Amino acid sequence: MANEDFQPKIVGFLCNWCSYRAADLAGTSRIPMEPTVRIVRLMCSGRVDPTFVLKALSMGADGVLIAGCHPGECHYLEQNYKTIRRFAMLRHVLRALGVPDERVQLVWASAAEGTRLAEAVNQLTEDIRRLGPLDWKDRWSESPERLEALEDIVQEHAEAMEVSA
Ligand code: FES
Repeated sequence: MANEDFQPKIVGFLCNWCSYRAADLAGTSRIPMEPTVRIVRLMCSGRVDPTFVLKALSMGADGVLIAGCHPGECHYLEQNYKTIRRFAMLRHVLRALGVPDERVQLVWASAAEGTRLAEAVNQLTEDIRRLGPLDWKDRWSESPERLEALEDIVQEHAEAMEVSA
């Protein structure tokens, strides 16, 4: 059951051309949206290096939302197809680290889809409330070997995630 008192901290990596504008539209249209997301605006979802997500979680985020233009509509041609590939590998890594899929989600929302973006935020917030805090920051700072293990895992999958490209 969700803990309604728990206010999750979510980092949202939103592409400038679609999803950031969708979030803006949700705000100006007064579409109900949980105030749980700290937005990081990037020019494209293809700019989201998977290490950004791991870093957000290790610095205290309870979840991460990646949002961009629909496939085929990326302003940088095919960069969001890269996002899809990276996200699949990121999920694999997060599962290996014991992070449930619900904590890190990918959504496509065009500039006109404020409702869709708001629904994604609300759903992610509800999922994370049900799961509770992640507490990676506290748990990992007590255990430096975990940080080394994380670096090893990222290195192991670096090529597939195009981290080093
Ligand atoms: Fe929006 Fe690439 S410009 S996903």
